[in-house]
Amino acid sequence: MQILEACLGLGGHTKRFLEIIGDRGHIWGFELDPRVAEEARKRLAGFEGRFTIFEANFRDFDLHLKGTGVKRFDALFGDLGIGYYHLGEKYGQALKKDLPIDFLLAPSLGIPSGAELIESASEAELRRLIWEAGERRFAGRVAKAIVNRRPVCTTGNLARIIEAAVPRKFQKPGVSPAQRIFAHIRAVVNDERGALAELMNKLTYWLRPGGRAVFLCYTSSEFSQVRKYLKGKGCICPAESPKCVCGKGYAYKVLADGERPTDEEISANPSARSARLAAGELLYRPEEGTSEE
Ligand SMILES: C[S@@+](CC[C@H](N)C(=O)[O-])C[C@H]1O[C@@H](n2cnc3c(N)ncnc32)[C@H](O)[C@@H]1O
Repeated sequence: MQILEACLGLGGHTKRFLEIIGDRGHIWGFELDPRVAEEARKRLAGFEGRFTIFEANFRDFDLHLKGTGVKRFDALFGDLGIGYYHLGEKYGQALKKDLPIDFLLAPSLGIPSGAELIESASEAELRRLIWEAGERRFAGRVAKAIVNRRPVCTTGNLARIIEAAVPRKFQKPGVSPAQRIFAHIRAVVNDERGALAELMNKLTYWLRPGGRAVFLCYTSSEFSQVRKYLKGKGCICPAESPKCVCGKGYAYKVLADGERPTDEEISANPSARSARLAAGELLYRPEEGTSEE
């Protein structure tokens, strides 16, 4: 059994999967953040030879698997987004601390950080960003407040500016409006939607029929992207075509469509509160070939 673990994190799920599959398979794990991958390695000591860790973006999994001999997966597991450990001081995404506005999941990605976005975007671009984050009603006010207070410099300052721009009576008790905006900035900076789209597109060719794709999503945009993929047909033939000739068609039997954790699960693991499960079993996939063809 070959398993693609797209978001290795600290290896909690991987460890459990390894316990279940024993020596009947191999797990290929991807983790963008080398600091986190290092911790996972320690946690998985004792399972040597049964897993391989790539400190790389899951969007490129096919490139990293070249030469390993693996051609098909029996399962993909993607526990998307960031881990609770990224919210701590060390990883620079804290709302209540004055840390540099970074938001990069890997320090050496060589892509513009959150600071570059916040300090240099136009007011209209910021308004769109905040609107996309789901803060629809006060997007204009928040964008204006950020522009007026630049340079913003720190995560704590950015959170305070956002909180002051959204009237208190419209804020959910105990939930800062900055939370959603921070998560969205992080997703944009790291091109999380683009990476997920690439992963799913390639997966259609790599999963064997009967194989399962399982995702844990934490934002509504992640969930709708995954759902659209699992419910899609992949076919690009014109609507008037009497039968599929494009060779890109695929179909999943949907096994989970947004199930939420139970109250017991949330009390054991509060960070699971916003999780939604999406899963499918691949019924058929495109003809032999790669997604580039
Ligand atoms: C929710 S956590 C996974 C936690 C994991 N299931 C565990 O048991 O520890 C998601 C992890 O995926 C990583 N990640 C996010 N996007 C990634 C990408 N495009 N490629 C590789 N890793 C990614 C994050 O750095 C984070 O550590």
